[in-house]
Amino acid sequence: MKKDYFSNRTTVRNYAKKHIPEDILDSILEKAMRAPTCGNMQLYSVIVTRDPANLEKLAKEHFNQPAAAGADVILTVCADFNRFTQWCEASNAKPGYDNFHSFMMALTDAIIYTQQIVTIAEMEGIGTCYLGTVNYNAGQISELLRLPDLVVPVASLSLGYPDNDTIDQCERLPLDAIRHYETYRNDSKDEIVELFKSKDDFDINKQFVVENKKESLAQVFTDIRYPESVNKTVSDSFIALLKNKRFLS
Ligand SMILES: Cc1cc2nc3c(=O)[nH]c(=O)nc-3n(C[C@H](O)[C@H](O)[C@H](O)COP(=O)(O)O)c2cc1C
Repeated sequence: MKKDYFSNRTTVRNYAKKHIPEDILDSILEKAMRAPTCGNMQLYSVIVTRDPANLEKLAKEHFNQPAAAGADVILTVCADFNRFTQWCEASNAKPGYDNFHSFMMALTDAIIYTQQIVTIAEMEGIGTCYLGTVNYNAGQISELLRLPDLVVPVASLSLGYPDNDTIDQCERLPLDAIRHYETYRNDSKDEIVELFKSKDDFDINKQFVVENKKESLAQVFTDIRYPESVNKTVSDSFIALLKNKRFLS
């Protein structure tokens, strides 16, 4: 285990050509199941992809970003009310889990489980990277992984042994930015700009602004990384998937 893991952790996007043994992966997935779960229902499933041909297909749905294309394993964690619903039906109990609240419960469970995997894997020296692209192509990923009704992919992780020892940590906002006492402190724009100073002044971020020919780091986010048009398209396709998988009517 790395010393002071929590203060030193970083995402790892480049992996060595060394496989994670099956038993180690299984032990991580099993230990992570001790994570808190809504009503102890365990409303998640994890699809392990490590067959090279399947990895290639899945990485394509993640736009072949380096962490996906070079992964030893990709885990797709799904919000899953299928298993629980079927158990209810088999037990003469009427399930009522084809609705948005149930999706939120399963989503929360799935995300908590995923982060538990991240923590345990990283503490065991395995690098991980969330692939937010799971939302962009959730429909195609669902088809590829043959997900049934009431099962929706909500988090993807690439895993592998890091290909180098040290990775520069990126910045975080100061604690003052995110901690509020008792009630929400609605900071003024000037105060917020001050809280973001460390982010604006971070060398790599300054480099992004120059490389992308933008005026500010915020513009890199609004115009390039997470533009409104993409956010709306991804929202529409995800809502369509929730309807298709019967979480929404
Ligand atoms: C929901 C979510 C989606 C993410 N998606 C991606 C991604 O698609 N590609 C990537 O390289 N990193 C991705 N990351 C990793 C973040 O970029 C990373 O956590 C952040 O920049 C902070 O870096 P650190 O984890 O090294 O502290 C994602 C993280 C989260 C929580």
